[in-house]
Amino acid sequence: MSVSIQFLPDGVTVDAEVGEPLLQVAERAGVTIPTGCLMGSCHACEVEVSGQEDPICACITAVPPGQSQLTINLYVDPTW
Ligand code: FES
Repeated sequence: MSVSIQFLPDGVTVDAEVGEPLLQVAERAGVTIPTGCLMGSCHACEVEVSGQEDPICACITAVPPGQSQLTINLYVDPTW
């Protein structure tokens, strides 16, 4: 099943497969998610996913099943 994924704030939408790593999806969309450790511990890659309360680490997250659409918010903060 493919999932339509929209990246904010850029508003780019790409199709992805369930189980595909988010970083890979972002790369295909031409969106850069900042990363550091790639192991889920530095939180440099945190993004907000629609339907989830807490930000997740993109480097250890794959496209979840059960949804045909997903919004990923990079919430880029230029003052950070
Ligand atoms: S890159 Fe460090 S938590 Fe994802």
